[in-house]
Amino acid sequence: MSNNPDSSELISMSNIEKVYKMGSNIIKALDSVNLSIRKGEYVAVVGPSGAGKSTLMNIIGCLDVPTGGEYILDGLNTKCSDNKLAEIRNKKIGFIFQNYNLLPRLDILQNVELPLQYQGYSGKKSREKAVEVLERVGLGDHVKHKPNELSGGQMQRVAIARALVTGPQIILADEPTGSLDSRTGKEVLGMLADLNKEGNTIIIITHDREIASSAKRMITVRDGRITSDTFKGSMAIQPG
Ligand SMILES: Nc1ncnc2c1ncn2[C@@H]1O[C@H](COP(=O)(O)OP(=O)(O)OP(=O)(O)O)[C@@H](O)[C@H]1O
Ligand SMILES: [Mg+2]
Repeated sequence: MSNNPDSSELISMSNIEKVYKMGSNIIKALDSVNLSIRKGEYVAVVGPSGAGKSTLMNIIGCLDVPTGGEYILDGLNTKCSDNKLAEIRNKKIGFIFQNYNLLPRLDILQNVELPLQYQGYSGKKSREKAVEVLERVGLGDHVKHKPNELSGGQMQRVAIARALVTGPQIILADEPTGSLDSRTGKEVLGMLADLNKEGNTIIIITHDREIASSAKRMITVRDGRITSDTFKGSMAIQPG
């Protein structure tokens, strides 16, 4: 333990490894990853298909555990029981996925309420909060719609609302614009940028160079390793 921990450090990974065994085949999805992310950063993760980006994201988000190394999240060691890990995840992390991952049988209000119910909120309180975030993403008049009664952009806004409703410190987005047209994608990115301005830490996986270059920091993953990690002085989006 350091005597002088950096209180603004949110994510601290050392020698993280993720190995999958497929019969006699061993796949090293992550190999000696060292990573430090501070509160309030906006980080893009890029790299070819199969590089290990989603694996890294799932470990950051406590959806999965590494097979080696140490991961400290906001001062907490994530080597703990499944229940404790779920609690950390529920409190600190909001997820946004390419395919929205909404529950099809529930209307969007119920989808957004769900993380609050896991936290033990009463029905009335969770409904109020869910309506508030759905209004914030411009869907206050769609609360009774089922996911299949919405456009892709609207579904992604529901997913953002669901990610936000618990007030997480970290928003993790795995290809959040991958299924959207470019205009709708820009809207979604605009929302993420606003959340970052409000102090949320954003980590986004993308294949889109323009999106990646708009982030303040770009991490490249290749063959399970971080091969480059660059900070930018400006937020300018490069044309083309
Ligand atoms: N559950 C699993 N079991 C076995 N191998 C897996 C599993 N999940 C991922 N892998 C392997 O780990 C490697 C990294 O996968 P990962 O999904 O992290 O890649 P990615 O960078 O997100 O790729 P993409 O850009 O295509 O989404 C790949 O070789 C993949 O086949
Ligand atoms: Mg992936």
